[in-house]
Amino acid sequence: LFSAVEMAPRDPILGLNEQFNADTNPNKVNLGVGVYFDDNGKLPLLQCVQAAEKTMMEKPTARGYLPIDGIVAYDNAVKGLVFGVDSEPVTSGRVATVQAIGGTGGLKIGADFLKKLNPAAKVLISDPSWENHRALFTNAGFTVDSYAYFDAAANGGKGGVNFDGMLSSLNAAAAGTVVVLHACCHNPTGYDITPEQWDQVIAVVKAKNLTPFLDMAYQGFGYGIAEDGAVIQKFVAAGLNFFVSTSFSKSFSLYGERVGGLSVLCKDKEEAGRVLSQLKIVIRTNYSNPPTHGGAVVAAVLNNPELRALWEKELGEMRVRIKAMRQKLVDGLKAAGVKQDMSFITTQIGMFSYSGLSKDQMVRLRSEFGVYGTDTGRMCVAALNSKNIDYVCQAIAKVI
Ligand code: LMR
Repeated sequence: LFSAVEMAPRDPILGLNEQFNADTNPNKVNLGVGVYFDDNGKLPLLQCVQAAEKTMMEKPTARGYLPIDGIVAYDNAVKGLVFGVDSEPVTSGRVATVQAIGGTGGLKIGADFLKKLNPAAKVLISDPSWENHRALFTNAGFTVDSYAYFDAAANGGKGGVNFDGMLSSLNAAAAGTVVVLHACCHNPTGYDITPEQWDQVIAVVKAKNLTPFLDMAYQGFGYGIAEDGAVIQKFVAAGLNFFVSTSFSKSFSLYGERVGGLSVLCKDKEEAGRVLSQLKIVIRTNYSNPPTHGGAVVAAVLNNPELRALWEKELGEMRVRIKAMRQKLVDGLKAAGVKQDMSFITTQIGMFSYSGLSKDQMVRLRSEFGVYGTDTGRMCVAALNSKNIDYVCQAIAKVI
């Protein structure tokens, strides 16, 4: 039966974890996957999460099936976070939100729904994009192309967004094309477009009747929850209907709980009800209904003012530490003898730095020094700390 089955390539991101775990180098550093580690190199268990779990354990509850679309209090909290609790889309009831298995699950539910809705549509992702975007939309049956995004020659060779290229790619797209946009903290480049550029993107999306799908996996890692969510308000103000996938993997450090969501902004409440009914079919026919624990924890935190404030504080600390590591990386590379100007690293935002290193250099970093980043040159600066930074800088200096 399986004799013709071919060996699939390793996943470009999670496959690196397998390689990292098998590496016996005592100095190894994992800058591959997008995961935040604290200054001791430990995965944090947030205090707000511990407080919510403590309360939950004091009143243990049995686990029945959740509704297909998840915990109501969770879905409402996601809506509030994405659109604003008192915002018109939320109060008018025109947002359909479902609990999803991580941000990836939110993307996949949206992709499957869109495929049924508009089977002939193409999907456009940024060039480059999160490695899994292309695979996910392709596996949902779409033809996936890319729109121009990163330009290594921009800003005098420091790198940045090729915004004119981005606009012309979007202008050339056929009506109905699904455009996957990174709401904040672009993965992998770390370069976001400015608010004014968002206005221009939105104008093209509207004029060309494109379908926006905003991936918001890093809300809070740029400038803050509200600040990073501001782009959503722009899409709302433009009168667009659109998709938003949410992830709490990073912002709650709940990677393994797979807590995410999908929100679809519809014309009105009645339309949202119909859309929700279709999203529920996608969920039911894939995994029936979501798991309980992670969603319950996030709902408990987001719906309790004190825990919510604690969460934003802890998230802020992660954000500030990442920014400090960017500066340390720039300084450390200089001290290690790197002649070229690496200050662009501090102008990037979110968890990643697109380092500009070639595939060969990334492979050398891995094989000679046990420093893991993706082949594209992406490094997770959120995994740097005061103990490994010098080693990483020395290693990068050697391969440069
Ligand atoms: C990443 O980009 O490293 C993260 O989003 C983790 C993943 O699932 O790829």
